[in-house]
Amino acid sequence: NEYAIGLDLGGTKILAGLIDGRGQIVSQKQLPTSSDDGEQAVINRVLAAIEAVMADASVEGNQVRGVGIASAGVIDSAKKEVIFASNLGWRNVPIGQLIHERFGLPAYLMNDANASAVAEWMWGAGKGTQNMIYVTVSTGVGAGIICNGRLLTGNDGSAGEFGHISIDWKGPICRCGNRGCLENYSSGTAIENMARTKIANRDSSFSGSLLEGHEALTAKQIGEAALQGDRFSIGILKQAGFYLGIGATNLIHLFNPELLVFGGGVMNSAPVILEEIEKGVTAHCIPGLANQVRVELNQLGTESGVMGAAGLLFSTQERSGKYP
Ligand code: BGC
Ligand code: NA
Ligand code: ZN
Repeated sequence: NEYAIGLDLGGTKILAGLIDGRGQIVSQKQLPTSSDDGEQAVINRVLAAIEAVMADASVEGNQVRGVGIASAGVIDSAKKEVIFASNLGWRNVPIGQLIHERFGLPAYLMNDANASAVAEWMWGAGKGTQNMIYVTVSTGVGAGIICNGRLLTGNDGSAGEFGHISIDWKGPICRCGNRGCLENYSSGTAIENMARTKIANRDSSFSGSLLEGHEALTAKQIGEAALQGDRFSIGILKQAGFYLGIGATNLIHLFNPELLVFGGGVMNSAPVILEEIEKGVTAHCIPGLANQVRVELNQLGTESGVMGAAGLLFSTQERSGKYP
């Protein structure tokens, strides 16, 4: 049988998976990232996770096509290097090259949201489409763009840094150095900050809220409270959804997709955001563009990064030069 290995490298966990040609994960290994332990420790855990799933494939007659790595942050796909990943504390780490040298298999590096976009396109909500965009709303905000039937890579593989488009040039400074990035108004981190600010300002909607008395609120708690009808939480999520609707409108104007898929931890615990995005798209799009596009939730779970990174090894795009 033919397999490929996918590796998702995130701020909290490292997930390696062995997948078959239909996108099924047949074996997986998860380790904590714990980036405080330092770069080398994280690299060692990455290699250990790959080794574990590799062992499961080492049966006579099996073949592993290669390793696809999905990482948050700006990457250089040719150098197989993570250029800048704030949630790993990494700058210029040639993780793809290290994996290639260690295992003697083809390895390539891609952005995490781009990888999930590929998976949703091949096996999830975007199956059968030619033009779709996947947006992840999690600790950060990112996107992967499928344009005319292939993943839009851009020059280095970093196309789709949707979270860092500025929606206010006078806005707060982002971790990336730019001002007013969309991520600061709509990510899980932003939702938590909005809640904290409102509470500090004694916002009237907080009195009587289900969350009253909670100190450190997580985006997940806010999502859960919203599902129970909590007015305070719904207000915050609607605000995040409003900004995502503005961003989504820009995406539609640029790429004319038939489908926008929203995933990531925040979307999955706060479906109310999706309604706001749809409203925004209807309200702000150029006439004729909005009614052609569907806005949906993702279908694959948190393994989509692993699936997509490995999945490219079963598509023809890896032979295009961008992903060797
Ligand atoms: C990063 C992206 C990433 C997104 C989701 C953003 O902060 O810049 O590269 O895709 O978070 O993880
Ligand atoms: Na991206
Ligand atoms: Zn930014």
